[in-house]
Amino acid sequence: MAIFVNMVLGRHFLKILTSYGLWLLLSCSLSSCTETDVACLKSIKASLEDPFNYLKSSWDFNNNTEGYICRFIGVECWHPDENKVLNLRLSDMGLKGRFPVGIQNCTSITGVDLSSNNLVGPIPDNISAIIPFVTSLDLSSNNFSGGIPKALANCTYLNILKLGHNRLSGQIPPELGFTVLKLGCPKYGYFGALTLSSCTETDVACLKSIKASLEDPFNYLKSSWDFNNSTEGYICRFTGVECWHPDENKVLNLRLSDMGLKGRFPVGIQNCTSITGVDLSSNNLDGPIPDNISAIIPFVTSLDLSSNNFSGGIPKALANCTYLNILKLDHNRLSGQIPPELGFTVMKLGRHKYGYFGALTCNR
Ligand SMILES: *[C@@H]1O[C@H](CO)[C@@H](O)[C@H](O)[C@H]1NC(C)=O
Ligand SMILES: *[C@@H]1O[C@H](CO)[C@@H](O)[C@H](O)[C@H]1NC(C)=O
Ligand SMILES: *[C@@H]1O[C@H](CO)[C@@H](O)[C@H](O)[C@H]1NC(C)=O
Ligand SMILES: *[C@@H]1O[C@H](CO)[C@@H](O)[C@H](O)[C@H]1NC(C)=O
Ligand SMILES: *[C@@H]1O[C@H](CO)[C@@H](O)[C@H](O)[C@H]1NC(C)=O
Ligand SMILES: *[C@@H]1O[C@H](CO)[C@@H](O)[C@H](O)[C@H]1NC(C)=O
Ligand SMILES: *[C@@H]1O[C@H](CO)[C@@H](O)[C@H](O)[C@H]1NC(C)=O
Ligand SMILES: *[C@@H]1O[C@H](CO)[C@@H](O)[C@H](O)[C@H]1NC(C)=O
Ligand SMILES: *[C@@H]1O[C@H](CO)[C@@H](O)[C@H](O)[C@H]1NC(C)=O
Ligand SMILES: *[C@@H]1O[C@H](CO)[C@@H](O)[C@H](O)[C@H]1NC(C)=O
Ligand SMILES: *[C@@H]1O[C@H](CO)[C@@H](O)[C@H](O)[C@H]1NC(C)=O
Repeated sequence: MAIFVNMVLGRHFLKILTSYGLWLLLSCSLSSCTETDVACLKSIKASLEDPFNYLKSSWDFNNNTEGYICRFIGVECWHPDENKVLNLRLSDMGLKGRFPVGIQNCTSITGVDLSSNNLVGPIPDNISAIIPFVTSLDLSSNNFSGGIPKALANCTYLNILKLGHNRLSGQIPPELGFTVLKLGCPKYGYFGALTLSSCTETDVACLKSIKASLEDPFNYLKSSWDFNNSTEGYICRFTGVECWHPDENKVLNLRLSDMGLKGRFPVGIQNCTSITGVDLSSNNLDGPIPDNISAIIPFVTSLDLSSNNFSGGIPKALANCTYLNILKLDHNRLSGQIPPELGFTVMKLGRHKYGYFGALTCNR
């Protein structure tokens, strides 16, 4: 946990960690505090119809050893021996009912995935009070109706929001403007029904350009990235490509690690306008990290360029990647100082100021 925290978690998470830390300090010994998470799951189980018995068969509250809820299906804890829920992933379970407000008792939850179920009714107006620390919220492919609550704008840590394929209506509230904007173009794309196809075409151009610009000696891209069969969402089945929604050509993450790829940083990635995660680690990429990296991938939350052959300095533009939580540049041939502009970014990546810059001279 500690290493994970130091290496990986960033600014958006610090408050959560602080509260978690406080929680540890103040109340580790008080079972009543972890009991709220048990009440949370009990309430969720009670409030949802579960026709395929996913919860009924797994969520057994009789055996209450410490951390027992962490072994429930779909439940991920901060620590496996502590009844404190980190993420809840209840996707594609045929669940029916309304948004389970009991989730508000999972007080340290950061990830909520209720996608691809049969949930109905409104998204609660007070969603930001229910899950204040959420970083990732996926309610896509349900039957939610009503408006998009403006309270979502108050979920300060929200990086990933998926509401597509529901029966939501009305305007996107102006309060949400920035949240929506920070999730990229097309402004409304991942809200499903409002997709602009020209805007998803840019992501196709993005991948075409990446494929064209990289040498691919082991044919990973050549064999999988086939642009001939252009059904909607086809790029989402390409190796290394994760989309906002499996039926929409809108790239969320690109994971091209350890594929023997050669060439320079693929600037064509700038056409993947809503990308949040980029992993090009453990390849043979060389040349500089582009000076304008923050213009190329402005919404990136996780960037891993480690174990390549990148050279030159660390661009100070990285400081302008406002949403960056995870940055890995170690094991390259980068040189020079860490730009002062990056000070905060470096700091926000943890205590080991230079640790993950590895080969970058700081061997002490
Ligand atoms: C309770 O759960 C623990 C951990 O899964 C298991 O080792 C133990 O046998 C269970 N006890 C009962 C009574 O089911
Ligand atoms: C939260 O948990 C408490 C017990 O710890 C319970 O009384 C309350 O009803 C729960 N709230 C919801 C919304 O489930
Ligand atoms: C949110 O609203 C629901 C329904 O109105 C209510 O039951 C719940 O207690 C509220 N939660 C918070 C944290 O305000
Ligand atoms: C969604 O809700 C509407 C109205 O309540 C209903 O007619 C429709 O069958 C539901 N669709 C699904 C896929 O559950
Ligand atoms: C958002 O938070 C601010 C400050 O706490 C509050 O004044 C406002 O009512 C909240 N807005 C919504 C939509 O919850
Ligand atoms: C796609 O189509 C082009 C031209 O029709 C063809 O040359 C190419 O081999 C096709 N690619 C694949 C992967 O089928
Ligand atoms: C195109 O891709 C879809 C989805 O993978 C598949 O069902 C379909 O058979 C493919 N069509 C062709 C002509 O390859
Ligand atoms: C971005 O996509 C457009 C077509 O949509 C293309 O003309 C342009 O060259 C692409 N940019 C890069 C850097 O690949
Ligand atoms: C970034 O710089 C590269 C190379 O100078 C250029 O091709 C690209 O268009 C620039 N991208 C943006 C978004 O400014
Ligand atoms: C890295 O680049 C240098 C200089 O271009 C080259 O000599 C070296 O062989 C490269 N190393 C790898 C592992 O590609
Ligand atoms: C960062 O963004 C600010 C404001 O848009 C701009 O003035 C500055 O030049 C950018 N810095 C870099 C290094 O890109």
